[in-house]
Formats: sequence, C-alpha cells, structure tokens
Amino acid sequence: MEFKRNIMITGGAGFIGSHVVRLFVNRYPDCRIINVDKLTYAGNLGNLRDIEDMPNYVFEKADICDFDRMLEIMRTYDVGGIIHLAAESHVDRSIRDPFTFARTNVMGTLSLLQAARSLWEDSGWMTGSSRCMFYHISTDEVYGALELNHPEGIRSDFSAHEVYGDSFFTEETKYRPHSPYSASKASSDHFVRAFHDTYGMPAIVTNCSNNYGPYQFPEKLIPLFINNIRHNRPLPVYGKGENVRDWLYVEDHARAIDLIFHRGEPGATYNIGGFNEWKNIDIVKVLIKTVDSLLGRPEGYSDSLITYVTDRKGHDLRYAIDSSRLHRELGWSPSLQFEEGIVKTVRWYLDNQEWMDDVTSGGYMKYYDEMYGRR
Ligand code: NAD
Ligand code: TYD
Repeated sequence: MEFKRNIMITGGAGFIGSHVVRLFVNRYPDCRIINVDKLTYAGNLGNLRDIEDMPNYVFEKADICDFDRMLEIMRTYDVGGIIHLAAESHVDRSIRDPFTFARTNVMGTLSLLQAARSLWEDSGWMTGSSRCMFYHISTDEVYGALELNHPEGIRSDFSAHEVYGDSFFTEETKYRPHSPYSASKASSDHFVRAFHDTYGMPAIVTNCSNNYGPYQFPEKLIPLFINNIRHNRPLPVYGKGENVRDWLYVEDHARAIDLIFHRGEPGATYNIGGFNEWKNIDIVKVLIKTVDSLLGRPEGYSDSLITYVTDRKGHDLRYAIDSSRLHRELGWSPSLQFEEGIVKTVRWYLDNQEWMDDVTSGGYMKYYDEMYGRR
C-alpha cells in the first residue's frame, strides 16, 4: 500500500506517545505511523492494543541512541516527519540516576537529529511534495520554578481558574532547569533549536505542563495515588503538599501536537497548558473523594491514608503555563474542565484494573514477545 506520508513517532508505547499514536493512526489512514520505542520499563505495548492491527501502523523496537538503527528505520520507511516523545520522564528517577537521563534525553535526541539531517538535508528538507518536520516534545519544567505568592490561590484575570502567583511561563521565559530530568530536556531543546538555526532543519519545540489521563505509568502522582486509594495503601505526599502543578488532560495534549505538527511554524516554540493550577494536597483530596465515591465508600473513608513524607530534593514549587500564543495563532484550547477530566481518569483506572495489575506485576513486559515473537 502506498502512503501519502510516513510519520515516525518515538516513545509511542509510553503514556503520551500512545495517545498520539492512536490519534494519528485513526485520523490519518493515508499516512503510515512508525512507532519507534525501546520498551524501557515505561514502554507498554498494552497501551496500543486497539490499534496494533491497523494497516497504517508499524512498531519498531529500537533505542533512539542507536544512530545507525535510526538512520536505517528512517530510510526503510522514507520517513518525512518525526514526532519525538521518547525520553526518561520521571523526576525522582533522574535524581537517583542522572546518567540515564543524559544518555536518552540528550544523546538520543542528538542521534535522531543527525539521522534526520543526513537523510533530509540533500533533499532541501522535502519528502515528495511535503516539507519534512522534526517535532520535539518538551516540558514546562525547563523553565524552572515560579513563585507561590498567593498561597490560597486567586481568580486569574485571563482565565476562569485559580492561580497561585503573578507570573507564568511564556515562550520567552529563560531556561532555568533544576532537576537532572529538566536539565536533560533543556539540553535536548537547545540541540533541536541549534539544528534549525545551523542547518535550516524545519523543527518545532513545544513545552507542555503536567499531563494526566489513561495509560500513565503508576510512578507518577495521579495513577499511583488512585491505585493506592483503591487498595487502602498510604499516599506519600512530598513535603507539605504545597507544590503547584498545571494539569492538562492527555488527549488535549495529543490534539495540540496534531495541530502543531501540521500547522505550526518551523523554528517556533509553543507552550501548551491547561490554565489549571492545583496544589498537590488539593489534588490528593479530589482523588480520595472521587475514588471513594465511585467505589461506594462513605465520605472521608480514605482520608487517613494521607502520609506526609520527606520532600523531593530541589522540589520545584510552582509551574504555570501561559499557552495563549497557541490559542491566538492556531486556535487551540483545552476541551475538558479538570473536574470532568479527573472523574473520567479515575473511572478509567478503576475500570481497567487488569491494565494496572499487568503494569504493577511486570506482566506487560511480555507483550512484545507475544506479539512479535522475538526480542
Ligand atoms: P513515558 O515515560 O510514559 O514514556 C516514555 C517512552 O519512551 C516509553 O515508551 C519508553 O519505552 C520510551 N523510551 C525511553 N527511552 C528510550 C530510548 N532510549 N529509545 C527509545 N524509546 C525510549 O513518558 P511520557 O510521560 O509519555 O512523556 C513523553 C514525552 O513528553 C517526554 O519527552 C516527556 O519529557 C514529555 N512531557 C511529559 C509530560 C508529562 O506530564 N508526562 C509533560 C510534558 C512533556
Ligand atoms: P509527578 O507526577 O512525579 O510529576 P512532576 O514531578 O513531573 O511534576 O509529581 C507531581 C507532583 O506530585 C510533584 O510536585 C511531586 C508530587 N508527588 C508527591 O507528592 N508524591 C508522590 O508519590 C509523587 C510521585 C509525586
């Protein structure tokens, strides 16, 4: 079958990547989607069961740091667009093992950039009649941390939501990463921009806030706590639970990625966020209330599970994204209110206990052998 365009998505077996792969496979049947993933602990092919047999979907198990392999995959499929999500993504792990983060996030991104460049540069950055595109998915954490100067939260002038400070991350905010994770992402962002500025590679970087929704690995706050509440296990809140994050439903991020990949300006940066700030402790209370209510437990049943533990080292106080550029220039805005999204998310984890059990038992690591019969 002839495809109009071949789009490589890295990290497609992870949380956000699986939503992006699903969206593209279903929305663009005339494009081939090549999912390139190493299947680290965070990669789960069980996230893609519903689309794995689609004729326009291909999976390649590969490490993005392997330059020769990246070049081979790009040549084999005549890749003309790359959406790069593969990364080590958990801050706590980066504090324990920064080398792995530098290797995957920095060297892996550089290896992809070099492979794409060596394939695309001679064609004038075109495949057929389409412009090539290297789209790098990054995080708001590269900007560092904001002040929390309204501890109780106030209503923002430019959104209906509560905010916890006067300042927001914009596309012009200076990079000041604090954790090894955000330092490695910042470095990879600089390499992508350097390839645009030096070689003329059509490249885009987006910086998004915290995502939540189905298929997130239960080391992250929301799925970990939903599962712990269900099983009456302690909820380890770091420090006093005062830290603030801006939360976006993962499908809204995937929609933004689709829009930007097709209509974004090469060389540009777009911030993506939910205008949806929450203190950790308030999120934890919402999760307790929602899980208890959906399980038919009395109100307050799981309150005593809250356990304050030693704070994360260098814990960033507040993240808040100003995504008005994306709204103004490409018309994107979040589709879901948090209150709606969080109920949808809790319900999904409760209804998909088998998925959760597979992840917590390690059973998900067998999918590749079962499906592809080799390793
Ligand atoms: P994730 O940890 O759930 O998934 C990462 C995926 O990358 C996994 O499938 C893993 O197997 C794969 N991978 C890791 N190392 C690889 C390597 N060397 N070669 C090939 N594949 C490899 O991560 P996520 O939460 O889905 O995040 C995806 C991207 O979005 C990351 O780049 C992250 O920095 C960024 N991001 C995440 C959030 C968030 O809230 N989760 C917010 C903003 C940006
Ligand atoms: P996390 O989901 O790890 O995302 P990130 O660190 O990228 O923001 O954590 C979200 C917030 O929740 C962060 O402020 C750390 C906090 N947290 C806890 O309090 N306890 C936990 O067990 C975890 C995993 C996170």
